[in-house]
Amino acid sequence: MVRKPPYYFVILHAIRVFISRAYRPPRELNWIAGVLPFALSMASGFTGYLLPWDQRAYWATVVGTSLARTVPLVGGTLLLAVRGGPEVDGTTLIRFYSIHVLYLPLAMSLILWSHFHMVKRQGISGGL
Ligand code: HEM
Repeated sequence: MVRKPPYYFVILHAIRVFISRAYRPPRELNWIAGVLPFALSMASGFTGYLLPWDQRAYWATVVGTSLARTVPLVGGTLLLAVRGGPEVDGTTLIRFYSIHVLYLPLAMSLILWSHFHMVKRQGISGGL
């Protein structure tokens, strides 16, 4: 089964906003506020990928989390923090599950609230 990243529509939306140049003042803050949901939706995709807990999920997470080690100075500590230990195991699964179903949706709700609030105040841009 091919699993598609959940952020395809976020990319389509950002392209639409870019083409209609809605990133220009007074909406520049909303463009910046939009980058955060994009990062959060990628994080949702990454944490959600582990949840089937099969071979593909396991090895994708081993490879994905090992990228943390490449961060200068703090890489080793970051890797331990992301995995919840030296290996991808049950602790990582519980960690990713709570991040996926609780912390990311909460953060997403707060940021989207401000995103929509700005759209409501400024209205949709008139296009090109
Ligand atoms: C989960 C992610 C997101 C959701 C659910 C979301 C939702 C929305 C909605 C419903 C609107 C009003 C309708 C529209 O203009 O299409 C809007 C407007 C806008 N969004 Fe997003 N958005 C997201 C991510 C982003 C991203 C990644 C960017 C850019 C990096 C962005 C930038 C903007 C801007 C600048 C506007 C104002 C557009 C205008 O006035 O024409 N948003 N967003």
